[in-house]
Amino acid sequence: MSNQLTDPFGREIEYVRLSVTDRCDLRCHYCMPKGFNDFEEPEDWLSFDEIARVIRAFGELGTRRIRLTGGEPLVRKNLTDLIGQLASLPGIEDLSLSTNATRLAQHASALRRAGISRINASLDTLRADRFKAITQGKLEKVIHGLMTAKQAGFAPIKINMVVMKDINDDEVEDMVEFCLKHDFTLRFIETMPVGDTGRAASDQFISLQTVQQRLEQRYELLPGMMPGGGPARYVQVAGTELRIGFITPMSQHFCETCNRVRLAADGTLYMCLGQDNKYELRPLLRSGISDDELKQHIIKAVNLKPERHEFNEKPGQVIRFMSMTGG
Ligand code: GTP
Ligand code: 5AD
Ligand code: SF4
Repeated sequence: MSNQLTDPFGREIEYVRLSVTDRCDLRCHYCMPKGFNDFEEPEDWLSFDEIARVIRAFGELGTRRIRLTGGEPLVRKNLTDLIGQLASLPGIEDLSLSTNATRLAQHASALRRAGISRINASLDTLRADRFKAITQGKLEKVIHGLMTAKQAGFAPIKINMVVMKDINDDEVEDMVEFCLKHDFTLRFIETMPVGDTGRAASDQFISLQTVQQRLEQRYELLPGMMPGGGPARYVQVAGTELRIGFITPMSQHFCETCNRVRLAADGTLYMCLGQDNKYELRPLLRSGISDDELKQHIIKAVNLKPERHEFNEKPGQVIRFMSMTGG
């Protein structure tokens, strides 16, 4: 299917990050404030049928990849019903999930049966006390979830670690060993100033160039490849199967190759993680537009995609929380 979604900068949009809820059962300090509870109301959420309709239109316009995110996507009830609907849509070749893994132990097998092919999971630390301090949650649930997902046959499983100075940067080697042992792919992420909380975490920023140099003293890192639609740049640890990805929005932004837009739970299409450009689909869907009109609106929305984020130039700019668009 040829792609009809090209933005003003010549980038083909083939990847939709679909946030199915802005709720989460953790409170990672860089993502959501501790006592935060000002969530979207369920009646503001798109229904599964509305979501499937929008994703079908994206698929017909050339989108190949859908990633379910949140908040925490597994907080949304009956998610496997939606996954079943999405898995059967024409054109969608890659249906994946980003999760904090707290509920994976209950859901892994059903997710796989429903049609999720790949899982990426957040894990910033292997120490229970630190995990509690960063997320307010329990590490053992997450580890159990990851192991259950592996047993259920998910491969690859990618681990996302936001590397933060003086918080967890002393654990990068431990995380490499953990991923070697369990056959996970490891990705390091630079802290971004998204939302008030992300901004407050800016002083924990550490460049991944520094992390890579440190790892090179201990491991031989060769150029690497990994299937996926995201911005990670990979190396492979010599003599092993381990791939390590570096996601460097701050030190080396990757906006010129951006291939994605974000659909929030309330039906807002956000054109960039770091900018406010958006297009509201929910009122249109509920006003009875045709499928052809929906596609025309999506094409118009893609025309609003900005060239790049400006986290470095305008670190105070973006007010929405990461949990609204799922990273
Ligand atoms: P793969 O298909 O496996 O490559 O997935 P992915 O890396 O696209 O998905 P994941 O949800 O694991 O994303 C990892 C992190 O990369 C996100 O949480 C964000 O922190 C970051 N990221 C992804 N896309 C963008 C983007 O467009 N801009 C910026 N600045 N960061 C992004
Ligand atoms: N900077 C970088 N990554 C973030 N994430 C959430 N907030 C931030 C931030 N401020 C990441 C999580 C997870 C994904 C959903 O987004 O760690 O991997
Ligand atoms: Fe939840 Fe993800 Fe934010 Fe952590 S980073 S609080 S898991 S939405």
